[in-house]
Amino acid sequence: MVRPVIAANWKMHKTIPEAVEFAKRLKEEFSEAGDVEIVLAPPFTSLRPVADVLKDSSIHLAAQNMHWEEKGAYTGEISAAMLIDAGCEFVIVGHSERRTLFGETDTILNRKISAALKSGLKPIFCIGETLEERESGATFHIIKKQIKEGLNNIPSDDIRHVAFAYEPVWAIGTGKTATPVQAQEVHSFIRKTIADDLAYAHASETVIMYGGSVNPENAGSLMNQPDINGALVGGAALNFGSFGSIIKMLTR
Ligand code: PGA
Repeated sequence: MVRPVIAANWKMHKTIPEAVEFAKRLKEEFSEAGDVEIVLAPPFTSLRPVADVLKDSSIHLAAQNMHWEEKGAYTGEISAAMLIDAGCEFVIVGHSERRTLFGETDTILNRKISAALKSGLKPIFCIGETLEERESGATFHIIKKQIKEGLNNIPSDDIRHVAFAYEPVWAIGTGKTATPVQAQEVHSFIRKTIADDLAYAHASETVIMYGGSVNPENAGSLMNQPDINGALVGGAALNFGSFGSIIKMLTR
């Protein structure tokens, strides 16, 4: 049984006091949530203050992005070592907003995943098709390409540190969720691709989260699917009540 992961991707939301307040409540209410791993991904400015709140708790900290180089003249960028220094254990890589708004290609994401793993950060690798790709029947082709190129030359041993997030682009921030059956179909394909194309022997233990308009109403039926091991939550994770309800669904 894979331990599910519920991650909050706050994107470009919350000031430091707002992030700290949320983290304090989360720690108070859920530090014993042993059946599920909880991850918070605040903006860079809140990483260290939130890390200070979460120390001595089982709640994990993630960054939303990183650069693949260790250091250098890359104005506005941040390295894996800096994120570790700020208290991060995870980093989200390849979110569709990074791919579409900031031009991140599979090759760039491969560099980021490789750099993260070398530094000891665990990537949450996001993959997913656009509406156009789904409608033209290209979903599986796109998913396989993103996995193979994103994880090109990553040693099989390191794949155990990678969590995947299937986020159909058409479901992110749109209120449209993949049905549990649609999501399960792709999740099982992702697991098979990890096993067959990456020749990873422990694919049955890989965390594959679902993301895209997850909320307290739809989380239960999505998480009941055999290959869905948690959720990457955007909009509904900004509110403590709705994020807490999603966690409770998995801790019952
Ligand atoms: P959403 O975002 O839950 O607001 O759709 C999910 C994500 O972008 O990770």
